[in-house]
Amino acid sequence: MPSADILITAPLPPFLYDPLKADYRCHDYAKATDKKALLAAEGGPIRGLVQGGGTVTPTALLDALPKLEIISVFGVGYDGVPVVYCKQRGIKVTNTPDVLTDDVADVALGLILMTGRGFVRANRFAQAGEWEKRSAELTTKLSGRKVGILGLGRIGKAIAQRVAAMGMKVAYTGRKPQQVPYEYVASLEALAAAVDFLVVACPGGEATRSIVNANVLAALGKKGTLVNIARGSIVDEPALVAALKAGAIKGAGLDVFADEPHIPAELFALDNVVLLPHVGSATRETRQAMGDLCKANLDAWFAGKSVLTLIPELA
Ligand code: 8YV
Repeated sequence: MPSADILITAPLPPFLYDPLKADYRCHDYAKATDKKALLAAEGGPIRGLVQGGGTVTPTALLDALPKLEIISVFGVGYDGVPVVYCKQRGIKVTNTPDVLTDDVADVALGLILMTGRGFVRANRFAQAGEWEKRSAELTTKLSGRKVGILGLGRIGKAIAQRVAAMGMKVAYTGRKPQQVPYEYVASLEALAAAVDFLVVACPGGEATRSIVNANVLAALGKKGTLVNIARGSIVDEPALVAALKAGAIKGAGLDVFADEPHIPAELFALDNVVLLPHVGSATRETRQAMGDLCKANLDAWFAGKSVLTLIPELA
């Protein structure tokens, strides 16, 4: 017997959608061609909403859901949720922290290795049979180089552990220094100036919009590579494209973009850039764990219990 009506605002994998459909009356806003009509006809009884990490939920949509009690985000990032509005209306917001930390940190490490050691170029070189004709290029030793992490949260710390294990030095910036064995640099620009890799690992949203700007990229300079596994919104993308085209920074490893799934076409032509289609958490194990947690939050709430992973702003 379905316990509540829920609105689905992002495409969901079957291993989450099927169990949701078994337990709830699901209303598929993501697939609806006439979204306005769906809201008008079915918005009244909706008590839960499921969205993706990157999904933007406008307050106008929430206004059409007068009985909404909970938004369960299928992802750790909730920059697309109007949190202040939800707080005012008493709407719970949950996300899926922890279960994806290792995978996302692995992708950051992979991007450091791919950009630093030129693996994409080397792969193309080998596949084109070029090795029969000449030696591959020499790249730069990574051990001993410095990684600057913007945002030393769970994922930032997991990245720090991985690069430290490779013998790389770690510095970080964030709102305040933490009890960690890494160097704290208060200013993002000063951090960029001091490191070989600047890794973006902080939350997206208004507070961090375009903070990796032209000045930060200029400070990173020709010695530095930008790695972003967080949100495209944190980087001034046109400034990044311009810096890469002009050779003002060494390279970039990007898993996230400002307007996904759109990637600025100019980046395709550059061989000092590694591009991934937002795959930080995209393993079967982790997506399953995220799906289970996303549903477990709804199940707990509709069973009258406390949710498992309420976002800190509402705790
Ligand atoms: C997912 C993410 O791609 O967790 C996040 O915030 O961006 C990614 O793990 C996304 O949430 C899937 O909906």
